[in-house]
Amino acid sequence: MPKRPPEATAGRLNAPLPDEVTPLLGNQTPTQFMRRYWQKKPLLIRQAIPDIQAPLAREDLFELADLDDVESRLITHFRNTWALEHGPFAPDELPSVKKREWTLLVQGVNLHDDRAHALMNRFRFIPDARLDDLMISYATDGGGVGAHFDSYDVFLLQVHGKRRWRIGAQRDLSLKPGLPLKVLQHFDAEEEWVLEPGDMLYLPPHIAHDGVAEGECMTASIGFRAPSTQELTGQFLYHLAERAGDANGAAAHYRDPKQEPVAHPAELPPLLVERVGAILATVSWDEKDVASFLGSYLSEPKANVVFDPPARPLSEQKFVERAKKSGLRLDRKSILLYNKRSYFLNGEAEILDAKLKKWLPELADNRLLEAKRFVTLADDSSMTALLHEWYRAGWIQADAYA
Ligand code: SIN
Ligand code: CO
Repeated sequence: MPKRPPEATAGRLNAPLPDEVTPLLGNQTPTQFMRRYWQKKPLLIRQAIPDIQAPLAREDLFELADLDDVESRLITHFRNTWALEHGPFAPDELPSVKKREWTLLVQGVNLHDDRAHALMNRFRFIPDARLDDLMISYATDGGGVGAHFDSYDVFLLQVHGKRRWRIGAQRDLSLKPGLPLKVLQHFDAEEEWVLEPGDMLYLPPHIAHDGVAEGECMTASIGFRAPSTQELTGQFLYHLAERAGDANGAAAHYRDPKQEPVAHPAELPPLLVERVGAILATVSWDEKDVASFLGSYLSEPKANVVFDPPARPLSEQKFVERAKKSGLRLDRKSILLYNKRSYFLNGEAEILDAKLKKWLPELADNRLLEAKRFVTLADDSSMTALLHEWYRAGWIQADAYA
C-alpha cells in the first residue's frame, strides 16, 4: 500500500475551511478573500505556500508535453517575434534550455501528477464546479507569453525561480493584430513585483498582466472555468433537445396534413413558421433541469481525458477486501458533483438515493473514502457492485492513503 506523501493528502482536507485564517490567502480566511478580492481586484500574497517545491522537475514536465492526451503549447519570442506551436513535443523539438525567451505551457498537470493534483486541491474552498485545472509553465530567462488578459480568474503561484509580474486595470484591451497569440496592443503597468518561490498573485478576469522569467522559472496557474452565456445557452438547449428526444421517441416529427399545393415552391411557408413556433413555445424547463444539465456538463471530462482502467481488474470480492484495508479514492481525472437529488460522475447523471447519500457526498467532497468508512457499506452488495464498476472504469482507485 502506498505511503501518504506529505503533499498528497487528497481532497478538501487540503483546502482551508471557510473561516480558517490561512497563509495561502495572505492570512485571511477564504470568506474574507472571497468577499474582498474574488472577481473584484488583484492580490499579491507573499509566501502563500512557504517552502514550496515544483510539483514536477523540468524533465518530467517536458515528458508530459510529449504525451498525446496532454495539451501543451510552446511560445517563443526569438528575434522579437512571437511564435506559438501546439504539442505534443518530443524532447528534441523543444529549444535548448540554454536559449533565452521561450516558454512551455502544460495544461491539466493535476490530471497526471499527484503533487500537482494535491496543490490544486488547496483551492477547493472554491466549488469544484468552478475549478478548471492546474497549468504549469516553464520559461527560460526573459520567457513569457506577452502582455495579455484572461477571461477567467487565476492564481499564479511561483513554484521555481523568479518571475517579474506587471499588472494594470486598463480599459483598452485591444490586441495586436496578426499574432498567433493574444498580446495587448498597449500595456500600461500600474504595479510591478518580482515573485519568488511560494509567492502568489491572484488576478480576477480582464486584468492586463505580463509575467517575464528572471532566469529559469516555473509558475503554476490554478485556473477557473466560467462558461460564456453563449456556450451555456447552446449546451443547455442541446441537453433539452436530447431529453425531448428520449421522452418522445421516434414519433415526434413535424406534420402538415393541411398543406396545400404551391406555385412558389421556394417560398418558406408561413404556416410552417407558425407551427414550428408553436412547437418551440411548448419547450419548458425548471430548476431541476438546469441543475441536471449543469451537473452533467460540468462533470464531463475534457475531450482529451483518457481514463486508465486496471489492466487486470480485481474480482468484486477481492476489490472489497482491498478497499476494506486501504479505502477508496477518486481517480485524479474523475469529477464527482452532487446536489440533493442527484450525483454526476464524469458526465453521467444518476439519482442520489438514501443509500448513496450515506457515503457519496463524503467521497465527492474529500475525494476519498477511508477504509473504516468503506467497511460500513461493504455488506451492501448493490453498493459494492456499483463501486466495483467504477473501479473497472478507472474512475476510482482502491488504494487511498489509509
Ligand atoms: C505563464 O505562466 O507564463 C502564463 C500565465 C498567464 O499569464 O496567464
Ligand atoms: Co494570463
